[in-house]
This record gives sequence, C-alpha cells and structure tokens, in this order.
Amino acid sequence: GGEEKEFVVGVSHSSINDSWRKAMMLDMQVKASDYPGMTLDVKDADEDNDTQIKQIRELIKKRVDLIIISANESEPITTAAVEAYRAGIPTIIIDRKIYSEEYTTFIGADNYEIGRAAGLFVNSLLKKEKTTIVEVWGREGSSSALDRHNGFSDALIHNNNVTVKTVYGRWHRDEAKVNIAALGSFENIDIVYAHNDPMALAAREAIMEVDPQAAERIKFIGIDALPGKGKGIEAVRDGYLTASFVYPTGGSTAIKVAWQILNGMPVSKHYALTSALIDKDNAGTIYLQTEQLADYQDQIEKQRNNLDKMFSEYRFLQNSVGLILLL
Ligand code: FRU
Repeated sequence: GGEEKEFVVGVSHSSINDSWRKAMMLDMQVKASDYPGMTLDVKDADEDNDTQIKQIRELIKKRVDLIIISANESEPITTAAVEAYRAGIPTIIIDRKIYSEEYTTFIGADNYEIGRAAGLFVNSLLKKEKTTIVEVWGREGSSSALDRHNGFSDALIHNNNVTVKTVYGRWHRDEAKVNIAALGSFENIDIVYAHNDPMALAAREAIMEVDPQAAERIKFIGIDALPGKGKGIEAVRDGYLTASFVYPTGGSTAIKVAWQILNGMPVSKHYALTSALIDKDNAGTIYLQTEQLADYQDQIEKQRNNLDKMFSEYRFLQNSVGLILLL
C-alpha cells in the first residue's frame, strides 16, 4: 500500500556478463517487483577485484539500506564486505564466499558437495583400464572453483589408472576453448569435468573442431544446469553434456531475505540452496518443466502489467468523478 517504506538495496556483482549471472540478476529483479518500496542499486565489477572493492565502498558511502555481495574473488573482497557490515549495513553474501563470519546472511549452494557429487559420478564412469580426466577450472580465487575442485578431488578414486589434467578457463567459454585446444591431442581423454557448463560446452566444441570422434566419445560434465535454449539442461537433454549439476542462483531468495531484514524480521545466518544431478534420464522432463515455469512467469508479468494499467485508469476515473462532483 501507499504507506510502504522505501528501501535501497545495493547489489555488488562480480559481473553480469555470463548466463548464470544474468539469470541471478533477473531472479532478483522479478522478486524485487513484489516489493514496490524496494529499489536495487546494481553495480557490475566486470570481474575486477579493485572495481568491486571500490563499488562496495561507494554503496557504503551512499548509506544504502542493505548490501548484497557476490564476490569476484573471495579473499580480496573480504575486507570491503566486512567494512559494510561494520558500518552497520546489513550484508548478504551470495554464491561465492568471503573469508570472514562478519556478514548478516550467506545464501548459496554447497560447492564442495557439488564437486563431491561430480567426483562420485565420475567414479561410476571409470570402467577402463586407464582413464584420463581433464578438469577445467573456474577462476582460482573464487571459493566456488576451489570448493568444486576440492570436493571433486576428495571423492574421486585416485590410483595409478586415473590421471587428472588441469586446464584453466577462469569461468570463460573462450578461455576454456583455447586452453583445451592447446592440449593438442584428445585420443587419451575420457572425461572432461568443467567447473561450469559454458566451459564444458566450450571444451566439447574445441575437441569437435579437430577430432569429432573423440568429441563424441568423451563424457563432458558441467555445473549450473540453467534452463533455456543453449543452456545446460538442454545440452544434457541433447547429449552434448553427460551430466550437469544445478547451481541455483539464489537471486530470488536474496531479495526475499533482504526484505525480511529491512522489515526487522529474524533471518538465518545461512540459507543452503540445494543442487541436483541432471543426466539423460531426467533432463527432458526437467527441461519441459522449466519451460512451463517460464511461461507462468510470463503470464504473471502480463497480468501484473494489466493490473497496473487498470489501477491507473481507475484512479483517473476516480479523480474525474471527484472533479465532476466538485463542478
Ligand atoms: C558465473 C559462474 C557460474 C558459476 C558461478 C560460481 O560467473 O561462473 O557459471 O556457477 O559463477 O561462482
């Protein structure tokens, strides 16, 4: 109603230039439209730690009512995040961690557990005498990449028959593609485990260009499992990826929790989002369901717009009637 309080929520993103982060931003915006009094002040650090630190300090200086932070790299961003918290601004950390307990709430899925699940999945594929796995890393300073590596490595059966090669991609499809191509020969590679789907798909593309047979044989495993055309769930459905793990964006949860904090409601220190394995058995069904959800979301948006229009016409009529009565 009209007496709703006004809040400005600062959002410090490591970047908004990939599909997962675009999805997170959209989830935030859609949820924020539930709270007319809430506006988002969005900063995009374009994957630069110094820029992100500067932007967080700007938000503190502006005295925004709350700050949501998705850190580019965990260690370098910690100080600025803690500064916000110590300045008395409620702080929500989302996705990648900071290395401190000084924040209001953390929202995210457990990347160590996702890495472990990927490792167990790979174990179930180890049938040959010798297996070579290529692990394509996300940005090494991101807690998500580190945790995805550690969980994977802890779960994987390590013996003389299993070799793991490391390739760096820093979350980027192009970088992953170039560095995979640089391996030169793909005959001995059996499995590619990439820290996100864009890099898993890029690896497949790189190999397809020089050795299509290898590309068909190799099993590609990614993380994110986004809905939509050209994204992870579809790629699993169509057989380009053998599996992917859902990494929920938490965007909608972050906005809801922000609203609760701003209205003085108690919140948890930690919201654990759940992941799930997407493989050929469930990808088709899940893809359909996500399409359906997107459809509903669309309808809701349309109805919301219709309602807005109706209300403003109604208010116009009301005012006109008042005017006529006055005359
Ligand atoms: C996007 C992204 C996602 C990944 C997440 C991890 O920048 O790389 O693909 O799941 O960050 O923090």
